[in-house]
Amino acid sequence: MTVLLTGGAGFIGQHLARRLVGAGHEVVALDLMHPQVHADPESAVAAFPGPVAVGDVADATAWDGVPDGVTAVVHLAAETGTGQSMYETERYHRVNVEGTRLAAVFARARGAALVSMSSRAVYGEGRYECPEHGTVFAARCCAAAEPVASHEDDPHHPVSVYGETKSLAEAAATSECGTDVALTVVRPQNVIGPGQALHNPYTGVLAAFLAMLREERALTVYGDGHQTRDFVHVADLVSLLAWAVEHPASPGSPRVLNSGTGVRTSLLDLADAAIAGSPLPSPGVTHLDVHRAGDIEHACADLGRLRAAGAPEPTWTARDAIVDFIRWSWDKPGAGAAAWDDALDELARRGLTS
Ligand SMILES: NC(=O)c1ccc[n+]([C@@H]2O[C@H](COP(=O)([O-])OP(=O)(O)OC[C@H]3O[C@@H](n4cnc5c(N)ncnc54)[C@H](O)[C@@H]3O)[C@@H](O)[C@H]2O)c1
Ligand SMILES: [Zn+2]
Repeated sequence: MTVLLTGGAGFIGQHLARRLVGAGHEVVALDLMHPQVHADPESAVAAFPGPVAVGDVADATAWDGVPDGVTAVVHLAAETGTGQSMYETERYHRVNVEGTRLAAVFARARGAALVSMSSRAVYGEGRYECPEHGTVFAARCCAAAEPVASHEDDPHHPVSVYGETKSLAEAAATSECGTDVALTVVRPQNVIGPGQALHNPYTGVLAAFLAMLREERALTVYGDGHQTRDFVHVADLVSLLAWAVEHPASPGSPRVLNSGTGVRTSLLDLADAAIAGSPLPSPGVTHLDVHRAGDIEHACADLGRLRAAGAPEPTWTARDAIVDFIRWSWDKPGAGAAAWDDALDELARRGLTS
């Protein structure tokens, strides 16, 4: 197959491209080479194992630059900063919603299948089970409620503009694909691994921890650190995406699949694993009593549907994935910890912290 990867020069795209080429497919990319993501765009283009058309997915004419012969599209290009989305609203809507709609228009015009990257952000605060109030969504009803994993059919309650754009993008792709295009929507939890952007202070608590560890600075945990996330290794996500490319959904029956480990990791456990991956003595953890608009308390994927579909299941534990990321990234260039302080200050200035 010849697979177009939008956003192919990014973190997930580079891993997926290598995996697809290893399996005998050809790859092409459409990527804007976003300066917030790429400190060294030339090397990112050179690393991609196929031609790269430089263009903006939200610009209809950019798609004309994609060579003929594409049989599948994996749409990864997006604006990805949750905090930043709260004030760069228009840009996030344009790139994430219109960009995804155009990906579906392209897939239909070329007769290609589409795998579109959404996010667990569509669930927002997700699902709680309470002995008194039953199943509740979007907010914990009372102290007795326990967070449980999100299922693909759960309602969308995004709390960030990023999550809202991903939800709207799913709807746009579903509607444009109609009964003509085989559509798979994938909703990853927090993806980590070698090659993720170390310069972009708008994403990734783990990249922030790496920067702090390298500067021998205590790891700053926002709040009490009991918030949970589901950290999935990029290799496991890529196995799922490659499977989705090779096993397209039926046209007219869009398929939505979570990607995660199905296991919760608290931010304190994340900090502990990051410290375990560092070659330096532990700098400890410090708590900052701050809440950022768009942040959630708990997130975890229900993997029942993925298992029932026969799709590849995760093989990495979150702890091993975190250690792998820290060890691999240790000597790679990246922003200093101050960049994350600045990103937080920017949110505070805009009234987006409490
Ligand atoms: N990394 C995660 O934890 C995670 C979790 C859930 C979902 N996702 C989704 O996975 C996808 C890929 O994420 P990633 O982690 O590889 O991000 P990334 O920032 O490393 O890569 C994104 C790529 O898209 C390109 N891009 C950005 N805007 C573009 C535009 N307008 N036109 C063309 N290209 C553009 C960038 O230059 C970059 O190469 C995104 O859709 C993201 O929302 C990521
Ligand atoms: Zn309750």
